[in-house]
Amino acid sequence: MKIAQNILNTFFPPIVGAKDLIKEIKPDKSIINLSQGIPSIMPPNQAVLMLTEKMSELESIHKYSDDRGIPELREEIKKDIYERHGIKIGVENILITAGANMAFFQAILTLLNSGDTILIPSPYYFNYVMAANFLNVEVREVNILNEDIFLEEFRNKLSDKLDAVLFINPENPTGRVYDKEFLREVYKVSLKKNIVFIYDEVYRDFYIEDGARHYSPIEEYGISENLIILGSFSKSYGMTGYRVGYLIADKEFIWNLLKVQDTNIICAPVASQYLAYYSLKYFKNHPEEYVERLKKSVEIFCEKMKDVDWFNFRKPEGAIYTLLNYDFPIDGNEMVKMLYEREGILTVSGNSFGRFSNRSLRISFNDLDVERILELKKRFEEFGKWIKEK
Ligand SMILES: Cc1ncc(COP(=O)(O)O)c(C=O)c1O
Repeated sequence: MKIAQNILNTFFPPIVGAKDLIKEIKPDKSIINLSQGIPSIMPPNQAVLMLTEKMSELESIHKYSDDRGIPELREEIKKDIYERHGIKIGVENILITAGANMAFFQAILTLLNSGDTILIPSPYYFNYVMAANFLNVEVREVNILNEDIFLEEFRNKLSDKLDAVLFINPENPTGRVYDKEFLREVYKVSLKKNIVFIYDEVYRDFYIEDGARHYSPIEEYGISENLIILGSFSKSYGMTGYRVGYLIADKEFIWNLLKVQDTNIICAPVASQYLAYYSLKYFKNHPEEYVERLKKSVEIFCEKMKDVDWFNFRKPEGAIYTLLNYDFPIDGNEMVKMLYEREGILTVSGNSFGRFSNRSLRISFNDLDVERILELKKRFEEFGKWIKEK
């Protein structure tokens, strides 16, 4: 069948590839799946019970809701923004989507014309680049190794002819947390040059460094024509399967975006919206217990993997990922396959995240307790020995 050129020009989603690999190949060893970012956290149990009760008593939960989302959830997000950032926004600035991926796609569909340009820091989150490809939006892929140098270039030339800039903080796939002053400056330049700053806060609850606090430009600038915030319940509340996210932007933008939302999905799944509402209203601190476990996993992982000599990595400061960088002249996809076949360890190839992470493997700290980390270390070392002899 005919396939549209923009789809043909877009790469295949690596996570679908990873899942297919599991179906096709059964390694001798048990599988340690570090590919997709699925935090080992369940939604708050009480919230699930509240939802099931509501499902048997509230007829409207089974029907479409307001396209923008159920009022209770939008109200709760409004309160949450006030508590976190001390800024008052209106419910008219909030739209509930079926996840942050959808929020991004609908946002750029509403914001950008074919041929417009978005700057995306690289290594990048592949789905956002895929979305830009579908719409024929030009992606300027920039490696921000040094924030000062990037800022200088952004002020002087990178921001020319740019329509939007994206930041994910904390970041997927690197586990990086951007410096607050850096983000403030990028935001200021964006305001001055009328570039829309798209800010993905999906991992805002996942800071690994003690005492670190999430920064959002909304706390200084409030709602603005230059700011789009993307949020999600997927990671913080272990709700990846429910598909609930949101978008915060100015009223006129949301109004126009409703054309897309109504055509695309009408409204986010209503029962899922209720679970998000109960979780945020009554169990706001729910992510904390998981973050404590995550911190321990990261500490132990960093400590144990120091002895593995075929890759190096940066200790993540936030989110749930890091990239393992290696030197062998072997393509990332080939490396993923070999590591999976021989050792049962499933990762994602760095080249799925852009052209600056070719020889690396992304891992997600999904469910890494001490035992699994020790097992991983053993298998990584065996793999290292084998590949060097190869
Ligand atoms: C940075 C980032 N944004 C968005 C998403 C997708 O979130 P959702 O499940 O809300 O669509 C992910 C998922 O891994 C992500 O890493």
